[in-house]
Amino acid sequence: MDREKVIALLNVDLEGEHGAIIQYLTHAYAMGEGEMACEIEALAREEMRHLDWLAETIVELGGVPSLKRGKMLMAGTTVADWMTNDVALEQSAIDLYQEHIGIIDDPKIKRLLARILSDEVSHKGDFDHFVEKAKREGAKDVRGSRSDKVIRTLNWGIEHEYTVILQYMFQSYMTTDEEAKKELEDQAINEMQHLGWLAEKIIDISGKPVIEHTEVDRSTKTADMLRADIDIENKVAREYDRAAKETSDPKLKGLLLRLRDHELYHAAVFSDLLKEAEKRPGD
Ligand SMILES: [Fe+2]
Ligand SMILES: [Fe+2]
Ligand SMILES: [Fe+2]
Repeated sequence: MDREKVIALLNVDLEGEHGAIIQYLTHAYAMGEGEMACEIEALAREEMRHLDWLAETIVELGGVPSLKRGKMLMAGTTVADWMTNDVALEQSAIDLYQEHIGIIDDPKIKRLLARILSDEVSHKGDFDHFVEKAKREGAKDVRGSRSDKVIRTLNWGIEHEYTVILQYMFQSYMTTDEEAKKELEDQAINEMQHLGWLAEKIIDISGKPVIEHTEVDRSTKTADMLRADIDIENKVAREYDRAAKETSDPKLKGLLLRLRDHELYHAAVFSDLLKEAEKRPGD
């Protein structure tokens, strides 16, 4: 099988992981605090590792990791319905990995996919168990219907955080600058934390988190990537600052100011990296 074909198959797998991460996070947030929500978040984190391995393999093969999100099964109104959807999504991942293991020849890639497959089999068992548990214990959707300006601002924050998570991960795969790669990975993890805080806050004040993203910068030169990142960090820091000034809720203000400070820190880290990158012509 030629390399382009393998890259295309791995990108389909990667898109599937992306869909699974967002489907599971949506479910975990909607269930609020609790043991089951925590376990589901842990499963989403395992899918992030899969996505990471797949993306690195695609880049090693000379490909570009896809930014598309694969299918998500979001129907149903009860937690038991959601868990049933999660079982179904795992089953379709299992089928797909088995198929790809069968048609890819490269032993190293086969081994990686088999490793991921064994996780998906285990996840499916976990979700089977959650279906029963949700039916038994009557786990609830704790989201409310509040949809005022505060909720819109927080969902705007989620949209931003999701966008930069994808952007920094993509850039970390594409850059040839080792230091930038490490920092981009670190900041992406920090932005994931931000997304979680915003979603939890929305749940706390009876709203619904919406996990969607806007356009991701696809620069291929490190200096261009960093310029785009500095730009977006400064812009979002201003927005969080403005929102913090508008609210009289001290806890919400505290959260927004903390986010603002992190974003300013990110902008500073990226500015230092940019100075280094600019010394290297062609990068
Ligand atoms: Fe996975
Ligand atoms: Fe952030
Ligand atoms: Fe940031």
